[in-house]
Amino acid sequence: RTAVTVPRLAEMRARGEKIAMLTAYDASFAAVCDAEGVDSVLIGDSLGNVLQGHRTTLPVTLADIAYHTASVARGTRSALVIADLPFGTYGTPADAFNNAVALMRAGAQMVKLEGGEWLAETIRFLVERAVPVCAHVGLTPQSVHAFGGFKVQGKTDAGAEQLRRDALAVEQAGAQLLVIEAVPGALANDVTQSLAIPTIGIGAGAGCSGQVLVLHDMLGIFPGKRPRFVKNFLEENGSVQNAIGAYIRAVKDGSFPGPEHTF
Ligand code: KIV
Ligand code: NA
Repeated sequence: RTAVTVPRLAEMRARGEKIAMLTAYDASFAAVCDAEGVDSVLIGDSLGNVLQGHRTTLPVTLADIAYHTASVARGTRSALVIADLPFGTYGTPADAFNNAVALMRAGAQMVKLEGGEWLAETIRFLVERAVPVCAHVGLTPQSVHAFGGFKVQGKTDAGAEQLRRDALAVEQAGAQLLVIEAVPGALANDVTQSLAIPTIGIGAGAGCSGQVLVLHDMLGIFPGKRPRFVKNFLEENGSVQNAIGAYIRAVKDGSFPGPEHTF
């Protein structure tokens, strides 16, 4: 399989091929995702939830992400490796760059950070210095205390307008990929149509250019209530390998997410 690169993501969007992404935190699961044909693995700061047991992603450190990125990179052959910059590691362009360098040295090929308009200068600073950037808008979990909880975003007219401005600002600043989390499907679809770069939805409907899920969530390993946008692919598919393969096919053929997974 040819390696998935940042330019190939743009080509996939241009030819209408959906991009299938999953989180991975270790070499073994990363190798399974890669062998099944996932386009990208994300070392998400969701590891604070699913590996470390925290209620939020705020305690996750750069060293945590770097450690797991190095493990995932060793398990990956073709999938694009994207690593999250954790909370508090990109407050200035210089901090963002120095911390992105640490993640790229660990094996990341792109970094992801949460925010819109306010991050434009930082994104430009990174991209000019050869750090490919994935931005993340909508329900950005590092903002949980600013939001007052994990709430669907973009439901009001003002919220929808802000999301549109954020998406445009990060694209203009040079971001090559955009994760849109927990916003109404119609809005995420509009935003996707308004951009040239690919969008990756999670709880954002089928109109995005691709999808991402937290690996533990799609295998049915999560504490508490299943979020609306999650589907357990393990129960119907019998093995981790088959579950991951079925997820990738469902993203590619547009059957996941369905209306029942969408706000
Ligand atoms: O940390 C994470 O896993 C993420 C994805 C859910 C987008 O940011
Ligand atoms: Na994240």
